[in-house]
Amino acid sequence: MDKKMDKIKEEIKFFQAQTSEDLERFRIKFLGKKKGILTMLFKELKKEPIHKRKIFGKIINDLKKKVQEKIQRNHSRYFMKNENILNFDPTMPGISIEIGSLHPISIIKNRIIEIFRKIGFSYVEGPEIEDDWHNFTALNIPIDHPSRDMQDTFFLYKNPDILLRTHTSSVQIRYMKENSPPFRVLSIGKVYRNETISSRSHFMFHQAEGFSIDKKVSFSDLKQTIQYLIKSLFGKIKIRFRPSYFPFTEPSAEVDVYYCDHNNNTGWLEIMGCGMIDPKVLNNVNIDSETYSGFAFGIGIERLAILIYKIHDIRIYFDNDIRFLRQFKSDF
Ligand code: DAH
Repeated sequence: MDKKMDKIKEEIKFFQAQTSEDLERFRIKFLGKKKGILTMLFKELKKEPIHKRKIFGKIINDLKKKVQEKIQRNHSRYFMKNENILNFDPTMPGISIEIGSLHPISIIKNRIIEIFRKIGFSYVEGPEIEDDWHNFTALNIPIDHPSRDMQDTFFLYKNPDILLRTHTSSVQIRYMKENSPPFRVLSIGKVYRNETISSRSHFMFHQAEGFSIDKKVSFSDLKQTIQYLIKSLFGKIKIRFRPSYFPFTEPSAEVDVYYCDHNNNTGWLEIMGCGMIDPKVLNNVNIDSETYSGFAFGIGIERLAILIYKIHDIRIYFDNDIRFLRQFKSDF
């Protein structure tokens, strides 16, 4: 009987009337007084032992309700216009519309944009398909330079000049080429690296890139900006600047924050690279490095997500499992 019920349930679920005759045929098929499928099932039920009668009785009753609902729904949806408005049953349950929620990465992105907007950063976006010059050369990463190995690249069309950007630093070049300082700019987007997928790395992830250029911008401006960001995101949390190397900044640093995960494990997690923009980069985009100086930083958004949501496996962010994504709510 079980299988039979499932089949009936499916049929009811997927039924869609095209005409009012369809709808009447559907009603008779299931609820017809003499040979309606459900009517017959109710009759058959009488022959079953009591314990089965209870279980199947409920199932058949539910199916009956479903058929009635379906008839009501199709009726008001397709045929109401031509018929008497009083046929409409105002107590009929509405058709619920699923309400979506923002992806957790979008929630963090919007928060960062808002944090930087308050201190005068404008927001821009750049292309994900880049050329070598914007992604590497102009950023002081010449061909055959070992620092290119830091970022395993996807090239497109077997053309070594066209690639998926490996970082959002390319947006610095695009913006600086077209605009004269002073400016403060933020950009957030997807970047791609030819890496094996694991809980900590993915071939696609997100970065936020910020840069500020003016006369007399100093490392302490950079430090304060980063401290302001971290405080706005996490409140009180320990951070440290560690000397590092990036071809496009001098001096360069990496920023670690001290975290405590859901198992009470603690440790330092690196979340961004930053530094003073190398004068060679400014010269590449025709900004006078004698007059102007600037800082830049690049933040891994998934790294922030680890800290904010305490979910350490970044693959889960891109599985598109609705049960996971539904948990995230935001004001943005
Ligand atoms: N582009 C670097 C990366 O993807 C991150 C970075 C480091 C960006 C230092 C910057 C910076 O703007 O100043 O690893």
